[in-house]
Amino acid sequence: MAEIFLQNAWYCAGWDYEIHQGRKAIVARKIAGERVVLYRKPDGGVIAFEDRCPHRQAALSHGRKEGDGLRCMYHGLKFNSAGVCEEIPGQTTIPAGTCVRAFPVVEKDNWVWVWMGDPAKADPGLICFAVGPDDPNWNIRTSQMHVETNYRREIENLADLSHIAWVHPQTVGGDRKYSEMKSHYEITPRGLNTRCWVRSVAPTGAVAHLFPEGAKLDICLDIQHTVPCNWIMRFRAFTAGTATVGESSGQMVVDTWTCQAVTPCDDDSVDYYYSWGASKETEFPGLSDLLGSTLDEAFEEDRIMLEAQHQRRKERPDLKLLNIANDAGPVKMLWVLDKLLEEERATASLPMSAHERQA
Ligand code: FES
Ligand SMILES: [Fe+2]
Repeated sequence: MAEIFLQNAWYCAGWDYEIHQGRKAIVARKIAGERVVLYRKPDGGVIAFEDRCPHRQAALSHGRKEGDGLRCMYHGLKFNSAGVCEEIPGQTTIPAGTCVRAFPVVEKDNWVWVWMGDPAKADPGLICFAVGPDDPNWNIRTSQMHVETNYRREIENLADLSHIAWVHPQTVGGDRKYSEMKSHYEITPRGLNTRCWVRSVAPTGAVAHLFPEGAKLDICLDIQHTVPCNWIMRFRAFTAGTATVGESSGQMVVDTWTCQAVTPCDDDSVDYYYSWGASKETEFPGLSDLLGSTLDEAFEEDRIMLEAQHQRRKERPDLKLLNIANDAGPVKMLWVLDKLLEEERATASLPMSAHERQA
């Protein structure tokens, strides 16, 4: 069954630097099943349209920027920045209502956010908290990746970090204590906050060579997960202390933020925009570069796991799945998502299906 996506939500359409003033910077995306084209106006504002010309459904992303507007380069219809057609070559009249759907857009923390639902409900206050690369207090490195999986698999992956013990031994995990950590969960109106301490673990594979043999760390993970699948984590590491509850009694080694937005393209793929970097106070030469490249490597490890898992889930959707203790986070986050989807379904004046009409 095709995935129904949340409509009244901000979806990340990428890093701001991709949508630049260049002639060719016309960016095509698929977001929550919709084709979207983005470009930047001369005054700096970003425009997002449905990437589908109302004439014959040509890709507007194959079009041409003209001032504030965009021209379809199949038969030349020109649309202004509100999506209204203002020229049809070969005729002097324009049928009333000739326009392309325009989506609300907001830039925040160097991410470009697109609202896929009712424009009247597009509250920028619903955009998740993040720390972007322009933040003067942090050295944030950015990247992105396309993954052929359903976004629910990404939610499960990010809401349960026990997998880092097994999937990421050479990058961001490895110690089996990550499988045994006890998380504190707080369900929020649009997501899940998670906090956990992992005490006295070996430094992860990517940085182990920087520490003396046998070094141990206390790690604190503070995560804000919001729909559709935005995942913001403050990651702090301390030299292992003696405290068994609350803050570590060790010395702070690094203080970092990793900000991750997973945008479902359709049922079978996501675009993943992510970053990681250290505070300027705890940076040492090359640290944030190392964190950034480590995340590229780690997400390649996740990509291989999640793509193979997605193929199997599609082959046998009927199979009953086993539940284990570490599924608690994914179950809670998917519960929030499904609750919001159900609320949206209940309030939307959706046309009745053929099945409902017959009933
Ligand atoms: S399809 Fe766009 S102008 Fe014809
Ligand atoms: Fe992972």
